[in-house]
Amino acid sequence: METTATKRRDNKKSLRVKVISLGNAEVGKSCIIKRYCEKRFVPKYLATIGIDYGVTKVQVRDREIKVNIFDMAGHPFFYEVRNEFYKDSQGVLLVYDVGLRESFDALDSWLGEMKQEMGSQANMDSIVFIVCANKVDLTKRRVVDEGEGRLWAESRGFHYFETSAQSGEGINEMFQAFFSSITDMCENGGKRPVSEVSVGFTKEQADTIRRIRNSKDSWDMLGVKPGATREEVNKAYRKLAVLLHPDKCVAPGSEDAFKAVVNARTSLLKNIK
Ligand code: GTP
Ligand code: MG
Repeated sequence: METTATKRRDNKKSLRVKVISLGNAEVGKSCIIKRYCEKRFVPKYLATIGIDYGVTKVQVRDREIKVNIFDMAGHPFFYEVRNEFYKDSQGVLLVYDVGLRESFDALDSWLGEMKQEMGSQANMDSIVFIVCANKVDLTKRRVVDEGEGRLWAESRGFHYFETSAQSGEGINEMFQAFFSSITDMCENGGKRPVSEVSVGFTKEQADTIRRIRNSKDSWDMLGVKPGATREEVNKAYRKLAVLLHPDKCVAPGSEDAFKAVVNARTSLLKNIK
């Protein structure tokens, strides 16, 4: 016979969570979910219309987790449908296609849309984010490398995984880490455990490295207008040097970014009277 005590214990062990998928259209959100839940890959593109909903059960340690998955459509056309579904999520799969830079650059605006729709409920510390650098099987068309993706994710306290819904690479590992982190968070009173967010460098440092990598010339790299004075160049240089000096900054890519800033300053000063 089931006693009240057993029921209570079982309730404590089972957990219901809501996760959503976000990212531009065609980056592979639905295929990643399908690969995990149905162990198959569909090469033909079938755009998600608004939202797809599914439920799956997973085991994390001694807990059974019932996961409600809301797979969002990435196309801007479906904004009105999507915006209803952001609230009360414990996990977010943020997906981009490693062969399409604009899908990577769009991650910030996806976070922006989410924050805006959650309004006053927006407590990003109570949500586990996992970034999927998807379509890594298509190596020849890759334009966003691992360092850049990882830096963006980890500087925000998000997990980073390289995935391919086509080959299955990284998919199980990614979902295991995702569900295990969500469980840790729920057991931690709904707060993302601190260890995950302390990566040893700041978001400002990571964003600056990314900006430097993508800058179009030396003026742009130092963040000054073309034709700036020596003082302006030196001031901008000093600010970046303090932020990125390899003795102070452990973010991946900081050394290269620091060298690039030194070279940019040298070449600008040569040409300023
Ligand atoms: P929306 O629902 O419109 O937001 O798109 P989505 O992000 O759900 O994309 P979907 O999963 O439908 O995949 C888009 C296209 O990319 C399809 O043709 C897939 O077959 C293909 N695709 C998805 N993942 C991969 C992958 O890892 N590798 C390769 N080569 N193709 C992929
Ligand atoms: Mg889809």
